Amino acid sequence: MSMKEELGRIQKEALEAIASAATDVELDAVRIRYSGKKGALTAILKSMGKLSPEERPVMGQLANEVRAKIDSALETRFAELKARALDRRLAAETLDVTMPGKAVQPGHRHPLTTTIADVRRVFETMGFETVEGPEVELTHYNFDLLNTSPNHPARDPQDTFYFEDDIVLRTQTSSVQGRVMETRQPPIRIIAPGRVYRSDDLDATHSPLFHQIEGMLIDRDVRMSDLKGYLEVFAQAIFGQETRVRFRPHHFPFTEPSAEMDVSCFVCGGKGCPLCKGEGWIEILGCGMVHTNVLSACGIDPEKYTGFAFGMGVERIAMLRYKIDEMRQFYDNDLRFLSQFN
Ligand code: DAH
Repeated sequence: MSMKEELGRIQKEALEAIASAATDVELDAVRIRYSGKKGALTAILKSMGKLSPEERPVMGQLANEVRAKIDSALETRFAELKARALDRRLAAETLDVTMPGKAVQPGHRHPLTTTIADVRRVFETMGFETVEGPEVELTHYNFDLLNTSPNHPARDPQDTFYFEDDIVLRTQTSSVQGRVMETRQPPIRIIAPGRVYRSDDLDATHSPLFHQIEGMLIDRDVRMSDLKGYLEVFAQAIFGQETRVRFRPHHFPFTEPSAEMDVSCFVCGGKGCPLCKGEGWIEILGCGMVHTNVLSACGIDPEKYTGFAFGMGVERIAMLRYKIDEMRQFYDNDLRFLSQFN
């Protein structure tokens, strides 16, 4: 076979192989076979030495033309295959943005957490700072500093969980009062939410663990009228602007005078209904003017300063707001119950 024929054969074979290469890997193999450094064209060029001097430039030019044709065919085919691969990928990866999504179910706050947050917000806007105290507490803070005599019934192990004679699970967030007063001087405005414990059996309205929010304000010239004003603002923010409040005399060891605060029933407006048991009023919290004995015991001069304090049960407030009749539901973690508060 003459060199010319040989070049013609290589060109024909190469162009056929290029046309039938189905992937860029296959095509690259074709490129190496014909146009690569050790390919068919290179082999032919190397054998040019055998040609006569007249033939050499003619064959050289022909060989270059063949190479140019093969290279340009390779280039075109590479581009074609690349475009086709992209089309195929786009087709395979089609994304139907109109398909319904899988909704992520985000969690939400527990109704007790929401209630605490709402009460906090009311008092924080009035300058109260939220503080916390320990749940395992010294009787010193839970009882002694709070003017509670050693034989007071609240100290009875029937009602209080004891670790030691002087260490209990706190029975009231009032324990935070002494912890704050010991370390600061007035003006003091604090709110202290948290868990408290009493040895009660679990029933519709009792639980050995429940939550309270304590509040305390101590400054110069604080009066009962201040207590009433602040607590009225609170009641209206939580139970509705039309809510009225009333104070009934009561007794707590750590306040004098002491009172319980009722709010007008936010269901019947005071006429009497099942929620307020026909009373028109609902008891919400205990409060009073901080006892001079408490101030003195905590290192605050009762001649200079006066203050008020209050404490409320979070479960009770949440039960009233959300019309829940079973306290247990707060702790069961049944999603059928909890998801109603989303
Ligand atoms: N600690 C009381 C209780 O658990 C509630 C209370 C009443 C707190 C009067 C106070 C207060 O700060 O002044 O029943």
